[in-house]
Amino acid sequence: MIGVIGGSGLYKLEGFEIVKKLKVRTPFGEPSSEVVIVKVGDRELAFISRHGEGHVYPPHLVPYRANLWALRELGVNRVLAVSAVGGINRTFKPGDFVVIDDLLDLTKNRKDTFYEGKFSLPVDGNDKVAKLLKEGKVVHIDASQLYCPQMRSLLFEVLEDLKLSYHPSGVYACTEGPRFETPAEIRAIERLGSDVVGMTGYPEVVLARELTMCYASVCVVANPAAGIAGYRLTSDEVISLMKEKEQEIGKLIVEFIKRLPENRTCGCDRILDGAEV
Ligand code: HPA
Repeated sequence: MIGVIGGSGLYKLEGFEIVKKLKVRTPFGEPSSEVVIVKVGDRELAFISRHGEGHVYPPHLVPYRANLWALRELGVNRVLAVSAVGGINRTFKPGDFVVIDDLLDLTKNRKDTFYEGKFSLPVDGNDKVAKLLKEGKVVHIDASQLYCPQMRSLLFEVLEDLKLSYHPSGVYACTEGPRFETPAEIRAIERLGSDVVGMTGYPEVVLARELTMCYASVCVVANPAAGIAGYRLTSDEVISLMKEKEQEIGKLIVEFIKRLPENRTCGCDRILDGAEV
């Protein structure tokens, strides 16, 4: 099954047929929302609202591990993440979609692994992930291709067909938040090679990959990053842009799910080969 994690402004999937809503408990705590199973054609997807109903989890307190573990429990092996970002690259305009291809982690204080060696939490299951956790293994996953190439190419195809303005690659810098960045921070992040900035892309992607899931991130540029447009940033601007894009995001998700091949041909499922010490 495919999981969709919705960010700011995307708290539920409007117009989708709801099959059921599940309260999932995990060894890593409660996820940020119920998992809503919705029908898309003859397929189902599992939706989680990253910030929870009523936007109650700020970026630094989102229970990222519980969210990913809840999706795993439901059999999700591919995650499509939708997020709002600030645009740093001057060719990225508000309203543009960006299919992320790399990451710069600038967060400070987040649990960003399931694999804590002898301190790992015992979990149920018989697959490789469960075995590594039960055996208390130390695991270093490769991060040279975090974002699934198969999902990314399908995103290009769908964005193209829907005639949406998009950028096929972009480096995502993840800051700790919850405050927006300073202009000096944005200038520094730009020099470090990032195109967009957000507060939630990390550790979500890495946690999904640790569970051998495919992960793709499609971002919407909600505002020019601090100091670029020369006016102050507000959450209102971010949320209202995301509301404007809601229908387009819905169409993108539907087309994406319909066209996603059953089989994973990307190799993302082999990430744990050779990763344990
Ligand atoms: N900075 C960080 N996160 C964001 C921004 C931003 O400018 N816009 C939307 N999410």
